[in-house]
Amino acid sequence: MTTTDQQIKNTPKKGLAARFLGYMIENKPDLLFRIIRNTRPNLVTPNNGPVFITRFNDVQEALSRPDVFNITYAPMIDPSVGPFMLGRDSTTINQRDKGIMKSLMQREDLPAIREKVAHLVNEAVERQMQSRKIEVVNTVSRWVPLKLTGEYFGFPGPDMESMFRWSLATQLDMFHNLDHDSVIHQNNIDAGREMKAYLQKLMPERREALKQHPQMDDILSRLMKSHFPDAIHFDDERIMVNIMGTLVGGVETTSQAVVQILDQLFKRPKILAEAIAAAKIDDNDLVYLSCWEALRFNPINPFVVRHCVSDYKIASGTLRSATIKAGSLVLVSTRSAMRDGRQIPAASDFCIDRPPYHYMHMGYGMHTCLGDQLSRVQVPEIVKRILKLPNVRPGSAMDFKGGPFPESYIVEFDPIY
Ligand code: HEM
Repeated sequence: MTTTDQQIKNTPKKGLAARFLGYMIENKPDLLFRIIRNTRPNLVTPNNGPVFITRFNDVQEALSRPDVFNITYAPMIDPSVGPFMLGRDSTTINQRDKGIMKSLMQREDLPAIREKVAHLVNEAVERQMQSRKIEVVNTVSRWVPLKLTGEYFGFPGPDMESMFRWSLATQLDMFHNLDHDSVIHQNNIDAGREMKAYLQKLMPERREALKQHPQMDDILSRLMKSHFPDAIHFDDERIMVNIMGTLVGGVETTSQAVVQILDQLFKRPKILAEAIAAAKIDDNDLVYLSCWEALRFNPINPFVVRHCVSDYKIASGTLRSATIKAGSLVLVSTRSAMRDGRQIPAASDFCIDRPPYHYMHMGYGMHTCLGDQLSRVQVPEIVKRILKLPNVRPGSAMDFKGGPFPESYIVEFDPIY
């Protein structure tokens, strides 16, 4: 899930300092975070401005205290899909729903997920081979996760156009509408209502179909085959909310990661050559390591946002400790943490031998991404197929068209004779 510099621009005081911070986050985030990390790593900005948490250890400390640093998304999530794990901290909704979803999204599924993704991305690429160029965002990096939501999570939607519209409308409001634009908010609510109407029809049909074909196996089918005791109150309503969450969380994030990884690889010819060599021999581990490291240089979000609900001293007992007041908006910078040389050796270098815990692309702590394992397969598998194109090269810069997500990114390649 992502956030933007709007978080800064819309904090209570929009003075010069706030506007400068907003500009720096948008244009030179790593420079800004390096200055903060090395001077006031837990920076409490004046006039009730946001608090920046920038060092690796402190980011992990803040994200390990969901009772102090609360999630902020509920006002946008609740009216759309309903109460959801990402809108709550330390509640049954989070613990029970995430526990159930995680138990059904098995590690053993990963090889089959890889096959599905490989098949889908191949289909998306193959039909464009004659054109010698591919616009990645709308024909591949959004299309594949949208299709996977149907094939793996069991939520195909009535058509791809509706699925894409629902995905975009919910993402834009839940994670990028800090100006509280009423049209964006209403689009999100409408998307939630349409998704519910669709699932209210699909779920009884699926229940019937499962009687005839009990071998049907996707996450929705697994949920519907499970028998939850009444005492835990995990009913059809909860199934519906959690299934909607897989579409909301899984598409724009994946697309942005794919595009930003390609963009970073194309900037580094030697590393690109190694990644292409790994792709060509299907060295999936190596492709994954290259992808996750490339993403470290431009992760999909600069920070995750939290609301501090009680006074808290971060990094207590150190010279960098700071008291964060209740009511503060806290920008917990996973991007900065992943560049913190105190924990990340040679933090400015591209290294593919880092331990997994150095990466926080998928968040940290209670709200670590539900699609974490799946994404470590899906994203590299999409990137791998693109890298296999003959003499693949960028055909355009990433184009966000003024919005929070890449909307267009062209790669070119040589014809196959
Ligand atoms: C590369 C792709 C992805 C990235 C970078 C990503 C990133 C993230 C991040 C950073 C968070 C935590 C947000 C926070 O703490 O405020 C998160 C949470 C979440 N993500 Fe993802 N995500 C990705 C793919 C997916 C997929 C494929 C799914 C589908 C299941 C998904 C579903 C979720 C859900 C349901 C949560 C909430 C978890 C909770 O509250 O406990 N994400 N994601």
